[in-house]
Amino acid sequence: MAKIIESKVIDTSVSTELEACENIAHIHEKNGRIGENAPKFFVQTFGCQQNEADSERLAGLCCAMGYEKASSPEEAELILVNTCAVREHAEKKALSIIGQYKHIKDKNPAVVIGVGGCMVTQKSRADKLKMSYPYVSFTFDTAAIHTVPSLVLNALRGGSRKFILSDEWKINEGVPIHRESKHMAWLSIMYGCNNFCSYCIVPYTRGRERSRSADSIVEEAKMLIADGAKDITLLGQNVNSYNGGDGVDIAELMHRICALPGDFRLRFMTSHPKDASDRLIEAMATEEKIVRHFHLPVQSGSDRILKLMNRKYDTSAYLEKIAKLREAVPDVSITSDIIVGFPGETEEDFEGTLDILSKVRYDMIFSFIYSPRSGTPAASMEDQIPHEVSTARFERMLALQNKISDERNERFLGRTVRVLVEDTSKSNSGMLTGRGDAVRPIHFAGDRSMIGEFVNVKITRATTFCLEGEII
Ligand code: 5AD
Ligand code: SF4
Repeated sequence: MAKIIESKVIDTSVSTELEACENIAHIHEKNGRIGENAPKFFVQTFGCQQNEADSERLAGLCCAMGYEKASSPEEAELILVNTCAVREHAEKKALSIIGQYKHIKDKNPAVVIGVGGCMVTQKSRADKLKMSYPYVSFTFDTAAIHTVPSLVLNALRGGSRKFILSDEWKINEGVPIHRESKHMAWLSIMYGCNNFCSYCIVPYTRGRERSRSADSIVEEAKMLIADGAKDITLLGQNVNSYNGGDGVDIAELMHRICALPGDFRLRFMTSHPKDASDRLIEAMATEEKIVRHFHLPVQSGSDRILKLMNRKYDTSAYLEKIAKLREAVPDVSITSDIIVGFPGETEEDFEGTLDILSKVRYDMIFSFIYSPRSGTPAASMEDQIPHEVSTARFERMLALQNKISDERNERFLGRTVRVLVEDTSKSNSGMLTGRGDAVRPIHFAGDRSMIGEFVNVKITRATTFCLEGEII
């Protein structure tokens, strides 16, 4: 486990909360709950990388409150659930897990349970938790992660349950972070989204775009590298519209981070095609440390559907961007998000999506069946597509993409790739796993002691979903 990285800049909103952390830690200490006796916390995370990064902040706050990490919710006295709302399935899963925590609270009424994230940043969902889940002590919205210590303190003191929507979309610098991995790090550079794609709940649950200052980000990158980070991912809902002031865009920010000394590599997630600039493509082409992987979600291959989605580009503009990218960075790995079954999607629209997959030849896609989200324009559009139709299209699309992925992966056969050893393989603990420049995991034999190091791996086998090789 990496150590907690403290930020140099601490906003007032956060310093008050750090005082609450001290108060809680003091209460635990007074009750002899320190060292081996310390109470434990468990953070359950659903959803995207932004949520994973937020959960590392929640864990940082829990540590500052004097809690130790639990390996299961059953042994925890503080349980925090970080929810996702991007599709209905994610909300259902979170509610089912929260339902299961009732027996933990029944066994030990002193357990504090709080729920945060995109699901409860919608009033209707926070109200539902308040009404139907009486053992949940509080909810907190996505911009109020830093307020968890006061909420916990209030619960520990037997205060009333709190279900607050702050609606204040600010950046709160200085929340301590307890990172899951020492060698791979998320680095949030901005929050929120201004794009209002018609299917997406995110602009409502994460508010308007706001960028952290370039100095704070570079400072955090410096600390991460000093602490052993070898793979840093810059995070934001649309990192291409990063605006650090004084003309610092995402390309300039990456140049500044790449100029830091150290053997590390830099990634970024996620990009909107309308904002992916020539400067960013050029940065990728020229900076050794930037991984040659571009996640550029197209969502649909039909111009009619892209318009209904409010994506603000058409397929020809998108393909032009892809052509530029491939020209500047010839071996780039391109990936995409695709939604199938958007309202009104005809067979012809869907054929357009298959067509764009064949034209772009993505290394990999993340594909989703459209899920109506109440409050978004698409949810009330006419002609919602029956689930059987979407599922059948989804299967056809996967079959095509698997064939393309197979062919794309074969290009690595015989190549030697510089790989950061990330972990032991999930399917075979005797094997190690890591990634090179492309997105596919690479499995190879090796000793656990290599985790966190760069090694050279010669690729000997390529399958649809992964590559295999041997260290040379
Ligand atoms: N239904 C299905 N997929 C969605 N996404 C966002 N909103 C929805 C929705 N309502 C997908 C998009 C986005 C990814 C993170 O999730 O493809 O890029
Ligand atoms: Fe959602 Fe579109 Fe913003 Fe991405 S760019 S978070 S899909 S609204």
